[in-house]
Amino acid sequence: MMVEHNQSLQSYNSFGILARAQVLVRVRSEDDLRQALHDPSLKFLPKFVLGGGSNLVLTGDLKVCVLKMETLGRALVGEDERAYYVQAEAGENWHDFVAWTLEQGWAGLENLAMIPGTVGATPVQNIGAYGVELQDRFHELDAIHLETGESFTLNAAQCAFGYRDSVFKHGPKSHWGELKRGSEELKSKTSFNAEQAFMGLAGQSVITRVRFRLPKKWVPVLDYQDLQKRVKDFGVSKPSAQDVFGWVCDIRREKLPDPKVIGNVGSFFKNPTVSEEQCKDIIAREPSLVHYALHDGNYKLAAGWLIDACGWKGKSVGQAAVYEKQALVLVNKGGLEMPCTGGEVMTLARAIQTSVYERFGIRLEPEPLVL
Ligand code: EPU
Repeated sequence: MMVEHNQSLQSYNSFGILARAQVLVRVRSEDDLRQALHDPSLKFLPKFVLGGGSNLVLTGDLKVCVLKMETLGRALVGEDERAYYVQAEAGENWHDFVAWTLEQGWAGLENLAMIPGTVGATPVQNIGAYGVELQDRFHELDAIHLETGESFTLNAAQCAFGYRDSVFKHGPKSHWGELKRGSEELKSKTSFNAEQAFMGLAGQSVITRVRFRLPKKWVPVLDYQDLQKRVKDFGVSKPSAQDVFGWVCDIRREKLPDPKVIGNVGSFFKNPTVSEEQCKDIIAREPSLVHYALHDGNYKLAAGWLIDACGWKGKSVGQAAVYEKQALVLVNKGGLEMPCTGGEVMTLARAIQTSVYERFGIRLEPEPLVL
């Protein structure tokens, strides 16, 4: 177990914000993790689990023990007539893992290419892009409870996935004992109501590995407009998973800033959901509103469009700015030399929220974790 004190976190958060961790433990095995949880000098420090730091806004130093997940390993762990079951350790880089699965001939994760971060962080916000969400390919995950050190496994229902949401973002509303009881009960149930049976696991556990179910009868997901355009432009009637992977990489390069070049955390706000009535009301005033019908009769609105309509592209607070090409992304325009502060990011974010609320009556919800 490697323990570092007063460690800079600048290279461990994709905004490049300056902040320090009181203690940082590099977790390279489950043994490291257990040692960190039992070590007398670390035992009583609150723990924070850090993956790639690509969905994080640091507004100050972390007076905690940061568990930086660096465990590696990926393997095919099962197969049946319908699917391949592929497992990756939490510290694996997500994009490299996606590329590797495709090299092995296992399709299914191609739409999720180039999302920054580590495998262990992907279930937390149920990453999604270009018509596919993690939950569509998820099988189960292993985790360890930070207080008790107990290991447990959760399936998709138990993770209570939602749009950029999971059990790992809520609570905790209950105790570990209840989770365990819930877990055992759940195993014997065929269907269960996640909200009833589950409580939040936020800050309570560390995801150690994730298993994916990759379909043998693979069908490309090409509903997204930019992908349909590629299919047409390239005249490929039956694209391969590698084709889709390449297109998704190209689309992301065009639309989103590379965090290695311009610090950012991807979309800063979630796309809000509104009722049909509210959607119609806005369209009456703003006919070009970008909106998508949902199955439940509600509508999802493009937060980027709402922010853009309020004239935010290129505006800044200190070194925090709204990306010129995509208003949903906030960037660090000062680089690593003169980085923005978390305070600047949050001041900018609040100003955006206020102006969108004043014009459209919609409250935008930030996507990243703010610490
Ligand atoms: N738009 C504007 N102005 C802008 C930005 C967007 O008018 O400044 C319009 C676009 O023209 C488009 C619509 O808004 O019609 C939606 O934009 P885009 O297709 O770029 O997708 P998004 O809703 O901004 C979401 C996800 C992304 C994901 C893409 C593709 C959220 C919060 N974001 O972005 O996820 O890659 O769809 O599926 O759901 C992330 O979560 O970090 C992320 C990048």
